Amino acid sequence: MTSVDDFKLLDPATLAEPYEFWSALRESAPIHHTAEGAGFTIVTRYDDVVTAIRDTETFSNQISRRFKGGMSPYEDSAQVKEILKDGCPYSDALAFVDGDVHAKHRRMIRRGFTNTRVRELDEYIHDVVHRLLDEMPFGEPVDFWKQFCVRLPVLMIGHILGVDEQHEQDVKRWADAQVARFGEPRETEDENISIAKDLVDFHQYLYRELAARRAEPRDDFLSDLVNAEEETTENELVLICAQLLVAGAESSTSLIGSMVNEIVDRPELLERLRHDEYLVKDVVEETLRTESPIKLVHRITTRDTVLGGVEIPADTVCMLMIASANRDDAMFEDAAVFDDDRRDAKRHLAFGMGAHLCSGAELARSEARIALQALLERTTSITRAPGHTSEHIPNLTVRALRDLKLVLR
Ligand code: HEM
Repeated sequence: MTSVDDFKLLDPATLAEPYEFWSALRESAPIHHTAEGAGFTIVTRYDDVVTAIRDTETFSNQISRRFKGGMSPYEDSAQVKEILKDGCPYSDALAFVDGDVHAKHRRMIRRGFTNTRVRELDEYIHDVVHRLLDEMPFGEPVDFWKQFCVRLPVLMIGHILGVDEQHEQDVKRWADAQVARFGEPRETEDENISIAKDLVDFHQYLYRELAARRAEPRDDFLSDLVNAEEETTENELVLICAQLLVAGAESSTSLIGSMVNEIVDRPELLERLRHDEYLVKDVVEETLRTESPIKLVHRITTRDTVLGGVEIPADTVCMLMIASANRDDAMFEDAAVFDDDRRDAKRHLAFGMGAHLCSGAELARSEARIALQALLERTTSITRAPGHTSEHIPNLTVRALRDLKLVLR
């Protein structure tokens, strides 16, 4: 039996495979303070995570209360700070604000997710999925992660933000740069510099696109944002788009990859999926629960409080481990087991809950469902490439594979 002391939160091995650590935490230290990194309180049980997420007055999204000038816990070098001056200065938006400002930002993006827009997006997803499968070699090893899981969400969020498909590589680079600032340990100054340059590049791109929509509105999401009847600054718009980009591009990739990774070694499940369209939705949901693409959400305490019987002082940065909550046996029977017949899988917290519930949840579900349906339609067999085993990247926030080599027939 492993104990909490056997693990370090920021050890690359734990970052890549945290489930044993969380299990030990849920068992013996469900509210756990670590001095690692900037110092965090880690919350791992389902009930405690729900209590904290619901109590938005005590558990605030405004992380900048602690990390002045941004939400990264790491101190930037002078050179990185200099580079970032050419980008959009950090201010709190959408996922990092509470109350009225948050409500305003939710109203602004709501127009992008109306039924009409989501239906139109379903058609686009369908087209892209089939186009990507058309381009894929059959009968020989293919990196499905790189050629499909990464590309579909990037093209999709690019489409939402009105980014031309020819900028697909840029969209990926920009999203990666933002994820790196969320939590990947950065080893060299060169890496930090390159991430900062990508961020600035991205912000400048958005400034240009927003200005173009002001001059000539189109029937798209950016034009909706620019024309929203809310009082906003250009920087707010850029930061909202930046959050949408990373939210849309990264986590859906993980969902689709984890889902296929989960079913590829189960020919019996693959066979049932071919004959049961409802099962596809259940598999999407169970993947969200067992392999939650976003492992945690941050909150900061606005006052001294007590959670799960443990005192937490004001100004504590809490990591609400939603992916751990989703594997809590007190909530889900045999929670670590992937069970496509589970009736309560949808109670997972993979999209968060309450005020900050993911705006793109239905879209992410559509992407995964349409992708799996098309994959089943277009193949008679899906197997792992010979000798391939999948590994996860060492990232604190995102659960993502390094690659996924398959043979499609
Ligand atoms: C499988 C895919 C996805 C997962 C697992 C996921 C997960 C999450 C989670 C956990 C939150 C809550 C953050 C918090 O409570 O602080 C969130 C918020 C958000 N997500 Fe997603 N997301 C996914 C896909 C998407 C997509 C495709 C979009 C948009 C196109 C999107 C847009 C957003 C936005 C805008 C928020 C912020 C909402 C707010 O703070 O009010 N997400 N997402």
